[in-house]
Amino acid sequence: MRSMSDPKTHHDDDWDVDDDDIPSNLSTVESIGDIMEQRYSRRDMLRGVTAVAAVTAVTGPGVGIMAGEAQAATSSLTFSELSHGNDETHHVADGYEVQTLIRWGDPVEPGAPAFDPMNQSAEAQAMQWGYNNDYVGYLPLPAGSDTPDHGLLCVNFEYTNHQLMFPGLQKGELDKQTEAQVDVEMAAHGHGVIEIRRDGNTWSVVAESPYARRITALTTECRVSGPAAGHDRLKTNSDPTGTRVVGTINNCAGGRTPWGTVLFAEENFHGYFGGDPSKTAEARNYKRYGLKAKSRYAWFRYHDRFNVEKDPNEPNKFGWMVEFDPYDPNSVPVKRTALGRFKHEGATVVVNKDGRAVAYTGDDQRFDYVYKFVSNGRYDPNNRSNNTDILDDGTLYVGKFHSDGRLQWLPLVWGTGPLTPANDFHSQADVLIETRRAADLLGATPMDRPEDVEPNPVTGVVYMALTNNSKRKADKVDAANPRGPNKTGHVMEMIPPGTMGADRDHAALEFKWEIFLMAGNPAKDGSARYNAGISSNGWLASPDNVAFDNEGRIWIATDGAPKEGIADGVWGADVDGPGRALTRHFFRTPMGAELCGPEFNTDCTAYFAAIQHPADNKGSTFDNPSTRWPDFTDGMPPRPSLQVVVKKGGGTIGT
Ligand code: FEO
Ligand code: CA
Ligand code: CA
Ligand code: CA
Repeated sequence: MRSMSDPKTHHDDDWDVDDDDIPSNLSTVESIGDIMEQRYSRRDMLRGVTAVAAVTAVTGPGVGIMAGEAQAATSSLTFSELSHGNDETHHVADGYEVQTLIRWGDPVEPGAPAFDPMNQSAEAQAMQWGYNNDYVGYLPLPAGSDTPDHGLLCVNFEYTNHQLMFPGLQKGELDKQTEAQVDVEMAAHGHGVIEIRRDGNTWSVVAESPYARRITALTTECRVSGPAAGHDRLKTNSDPTGTRVVGTINNCAGGRTPWGTVLFAEENFHGYFGGDPSKTAEARNYKRYGLKAKSRYAWFRYHDRFNVEKDPNEPNKFGWMVEFDPYDPNSVPVKRTALGRFKHEGATVVVNKDGRAVAYTGDDQRFDYVYKFVSNGRYDPNNRSNNTDILDDGTLYVGKFHSDGRLQWLPLVWGTGPLTPANDFHSQADVLIETRRAADLLGATPMDRPEDVEPNPVTGVVYMALTNNSKRKADKVDAANPRGPNKTGHVMEMIPPGTMGADRDHAALEFKWEIFLMAGNPAKDGSARYNAGISSNGWLASPDNVAFDNEGRIWIATDGAPKEGIADGVWGADVDGPGRALTRHFFRTPMGAELCGPEFNTDCTAYFAAIQHPADNKGSTFDNPSTRWPDFTDGMPPRPSLQVVVKKGGGTIGT
């Protein structure tokens, strides 16, 4: 439990409690206090990006002060900027309209009952919109088209807040939770598919759609594929084959694949298990992933598979990337073990210029790593079924960042380097099940919590949100993680060889890297770095998810800005030119919430945003929440909801 004085409101630090981190291989860390200036200012002063603390102190915020050699700061984003704030509802920039598409408990599958918060059941929840919507994917209908106004929304349900879901509970009161409540929680996890349509400028959910579907932690059987499938370490009481698992948990971010499936992540899987992990044969493995003898959920009290002393291999069934075909209502979600096992924030796939599929994926923990997977097979644009198992066969790499601006990708291949029986790796399955330990041995660079890692579809540069790292010590900074502590995070660019867009080689073993921005309030934090023309509302904190529009502009969503006194929300910016890193505030969430997803439709006339954990403030409960967003009706609890932002009268977002 948090202490009463703990001001934290966002969920990831709630998971990453102080004792939850295992600092990894620190042998690569250089103590280089001025490296940030070497790697950052010299290049970016020329592009109009510089420290703004000093200039705002002199001139006041909102005045565009530029370095002498830089161009005037002008953004291609023309909306009138939203003001910082934090109150009981959401806000968007003038000229835009927010529509609530679907809320926790609303019907999804045909025949689902209406939401009844005082009479919840697992059976109802398994047919309704789940809790804490996160990843959002827009997949057009028909499949393979670029239809902007009719498609499927594929959305993750990451986790549950029992104190906000059920009456009479305070946060952490696991002993009071009934089996029925636990089963509702399990049914509220997972994924959901809805069919949506736009009429005029209004979006709505198509009722009784044949595509509408829920995937849950309670009943949905998933398949395990790739090199770890069938391994002894994946065999459990309910699955002696090691190839199946019921459910998927802590589904955080994700991405669309070029062949029309979605990849969704299993992130903080470690918190769902009871029993003492040190008493199992997997003790070393489970320690590296942060499993504790104390569960954060009551599931193990009613479901033996979540008790590691009764079913010691069950945690090895989680921590994977899951691929799912939303166009086939009967498809079985597949855990793709070739992409490694860790606390995946998400994964984003790009087709390389040679046809191989490359998936970027971050491990969201302090001092953990960024990875990429490169397939052996080639994407076939003419036959969708030829791509079905392309993510089962290939090479997983982990990133090592050098202070001279090189990014090296180190292969995690069994039998090479230290990944041998001498270090207790007896197969590629072992390497994948203990991906973190394998990456430790290779000397990967411990990062400040990699969240979204996503290629810009226009430039081909890969952006990585590093949300924060309160545990990095000042003498343990490095060029890529130059602040200790890093309270507000940063955004990095990983630059594959090549000049632009599809010309770049995502399979290359060496990239370049840059820092795009250092988040935080520049009026208070001299290490914040943005375009010098930033306004007083333009700064952000704790970048988490990113999305790109068709112009290649980045839209950054945050998780943790309330610690800096503002609500979480979205900021947009150009990535090149005079508006580079000139972040502009577009949307903010109701109190207690973070903004997940975000996703544009195909012509960027709609911006989908998942509002997660509204009212998750200290002391806020179902009975007495800090906000009853979005319904504001007596007796109705706050409800995580999926929203869509459109321009009033229609048109492209941002321009
Ligand atoms: Fe679920 Fe790393 O955010
Ligand atoms: Ca996230
Ligand atoms: Ca994203
Ligand atoms: Ca986060």
